[in-house]
Amino acid sequence: MAQTGNFKSPARLSTLGEGAEVSASGSVPGGKPREGGLKGVDFERRGFLHKIVGGVGAVVAVSALYPVVRYIIPPAKTIKTVNQLTAGKASEVPDGTGKIYQFNEDKVIVVNKGGSLTAVSAVCTHLGCLVHWDNTATQLACPCHGAKYKQTGEIISGPQPKPLKSYKAKIDGDSIIISKA
Ligand code: FES
Repeated sequence: MAQTGNFKSPARLSTLGEGAEVSASGSVPGGKPREGGLKGVDFERRGFLHKIVGGVGAVVAVSALYPVVRYIIPPAKTIKTVNQLTAGKASEVPDGTGKIYQFNEDKVIVVNKGGSLTAVSAVCTHLGCLVHWDNTATQLACPCHGAKYKQTGEIISGPQPKPLKSYKAKIDGDSIIISKA
């Protein structure tokens, strides 16, 4: 049976170049590597480099974006809830003034009027701006849309739907104590 297209055929030998000897196994010592093999190696190297570059790019992108994401989404605050708080020194709220303190998750304005302390939420029930004490008008006023409240938090006028939440405040020694109403 005639062999066609195998390594020992005259047609195949003529393409191997001059002086090339055919070994018993049919390979050519010192011959050129096959093109297909070279392409395969090149393709693998390129793929590996693409993976390295992609990985480094991903690390750089994550490093750059992480602080931005942390800034946009602040960590959840864990505020310890208490029934009573020593908010500050009595001297911080002299007669005719008001001062805002953090009390649990609320901001509370302590007002001193003639030596008598009151405490209500400082967060306007309209859209959440902080009220201040207007000692001339003897009322709490919201700077955003003009809401007015009595010292005890009841509504005088304005767009606000509800009165301010009430708290208790007293002076104990030299300290201001705020507690839940
Ligand atoms: S937020 Fe106070 S009046 Fe609108």
